[in-house]
Amino acid sequence: MIATLASPEATVETLRWRHSRLELIDQRVLPQQFSYVQCDSAAAVADGIRAMVVRGAPAIGCAAAYGVALEALRQRHKDPQKFSTGLDCAFKLLSTSRPTAVNLFWALRRMRKAWGNIEGQNPALIADVLLAEAHEILAEDIRINRSMGAHGAALLSDRARVLTHCNAGALATAGHGTALGVIRSAVESGKRILVIADETRPFLQGARLTAWEMVQEKIPVTLITDNMSGHLMSTGEIDAVIVGADRVAANGDVANKIGTYMVAVMAHRHKIPFYVACPLSTIDLEIREGGLIPIEERAASEVTGFREWQWAPEGVSVRNPAFDITPAELVTALITEKGVVTQPDQHNVAALFN
Ligand code: MRU
Repeated sequence: MIATLASPEATVETLRWRHSRLELIDQRVLPQQFSYVQCDSAAAVADGIRAMVVRGAPAIGCAAAYGVALEALRQRHKDPQKFSTGLDCAFKLLSTSRPTAVNLFWALRRMRKAWGNIEGQNPALIADVLLAEAHEILAEDIRINRSMGAHGAALLSDRARVLTHCNAGALATAGHGTALGVIRSAVESGKRILVIADETRPFLQGARLTAWEMVQEKIPVTLITDNMSGHLMSTGEIDAVIVGADRVAANGDVANKIGTYMVAVMAHRHKIPFYVACPLSTIDLEIREGGLIPIEERAASEVTGFREWQWAPEGVSVRNPAFDITPAELVTALITEKGVVTQPDQHNVAALFN
């Protein structure tokens, strides 16, 4: 059975704060089941990020912010010294949950700054301030996605057939989405868009999550396996590509879900625009170029099978890099909350922060 939202108007709440706990949609079991995992500590949130209960760069950042707030609430009755030590441990634990999406480190830096502003105050007050900051990061993410959506929607023509890879939708953010946010905004503005969703081996974020989001909202979607997009480009069935990003280097190189690079190369060959929707929190000015971005290597079991199924022989050697790097020269434009940056390079990327 495929899970459906309570009503067609209901929006996906990837993360929500309920009864002093963080609830995360369990993205491992979608679309067969729609359920929430409850987290009451930084350790529980870090486990959820590591296990991909919650995934997608902005959603990981939001979850980590709540992880800090939860730990502060949990430890607020301790004396200030023990409270600080406990909170420091929470920051360390959360920072090791996944390596590539820079939004995780961006959110932790922001939480540390909020703490730094009131360091020395009593722990209960610090906990309240950190929870308010986590709420603000979540609300801000939705506003930013809507703003990216407005900028990006203008790039899509009516009846455009748009390929996307992985899931850069509401499930990958606090709501609306980055790449799918652009598509949602275009649809809201009256454009008829056909989404072509790559399956996205091995974790199947495209087949399970993007397809589910689009079906829920009745946005037309066609699912393909990852090796079909080149063929569809060659037959003129794709007008544009939009993906999200996990980290964008200072020179505009893009780390995104494994397979993105292949799509970008094919799009370039067929002169199809290749857009990357990313909030400024995904841009890492401290990383000069894409080759320096840490790429997560995940478990072999994701490649040798899926869930309880295993199809590869026992003992086979496996590689499972979860992300790849698309050089800036293959990116037609970055779509950010501050506007569209065509042909990204070191100068126009830096200008976004002025
Ligand atoms: O491994 P995941 O599912 O966390 O990877 C997610 C992606 O690669 C997304 O494309 C990216 O985070 C953009 S999210 C709006």
